[in-house]
Amino acid sequence: MNIRTFLFGMIATFSSAWLLAIVVPYYKTRELKPVAYEEALDEKTGIYFPKRAGAIETGAKVYAQNGCYVCHSQLVRPTYAGNDIHRDGWAGFKQDPDRGDTRRETIALDYLGESFAQIGVMRIGPDLSNVGTRMRRKAVDLTAKMNETVRPESLLMEHLKNPRAKVENRASTCPSSAFLFDDSGNPKGEAVALVGYLMSMKKDDAVPASLNYAPKSATK
Ligand code: HEC
Repeated sequence: MNIRTFLFGMIATFSSAWLLAIVVPYYKTRELKPVAYEEALDEKTGIYFPKRAGAIETGAKVYAQNGCYVCHSQLVRPTYAGNDIHRDGWAGFKQDPDRGDTRRETIALDYLGESFAQIGVMRIGPDLSNVGTRMRRKAVDLTAKMNETVRPESLLMEHLKNPRAKVENRASTCPSSAFLFDDSGNPKGEAVALVGYLMSMKKDDAVPASLNYAPKSATK
């Protein structure tokens, strides 16, 4: 093999991987168009647009600054690549009291409106794609159990202040964010923004069937 063949082979190998893994996905997801519901499949018309509320940009910045993405993913993988769908509350709920089975995989459209999709680096802690929904459910359960109103935001605040405060979480490796609270324990602006961002995390609204996120038969 002469040097020209060698160089050509090397360049071809690396550039084809770069094309397929970087360039093609980049152009495919760069400008996402809204997807329309199909009446026959979805039993409704109109377009799908992910629902999100509140000032999430500031919260997303606090999330990034504190490296939450290093241990927490925001990606419910397709069933062929993992069992995320079947983990309690990660992908939605199998039996939501109002909406039935809400579990689904994450799709590219879910990150619409976010300047950076924080899909995460590792999974040391639970996936947070649906942490907002999960905390709401937990608050409802606790309210019923303790006979006093528990707010989902307070659950997150308590967690941020000291993830190891409760006996059942004493071995948690989630770092404390006590520096986001003042001396008397009240949340600073950053904590409020971060909790707002976490509460906005719910990627469980029904998407058009044409996106085929989780065929009903596969999740039963
Ligand atoms: C060193 C890895 C690590 C980092 C960094 C980290 N976490 Fe965690 N986190 C964990 C682990 C492990 C758990 C599971 C144990 C627990 O519930 O405390 C967890 C749990 C959580 C939970 C509870 C989720 C649930 O469904 O019960 C929330 C909310 C959370 N983390 C938010 C954050 C936020 C916000 C940040 C950034 C400020 C952060 N974490 C940074 C490891 C981490």
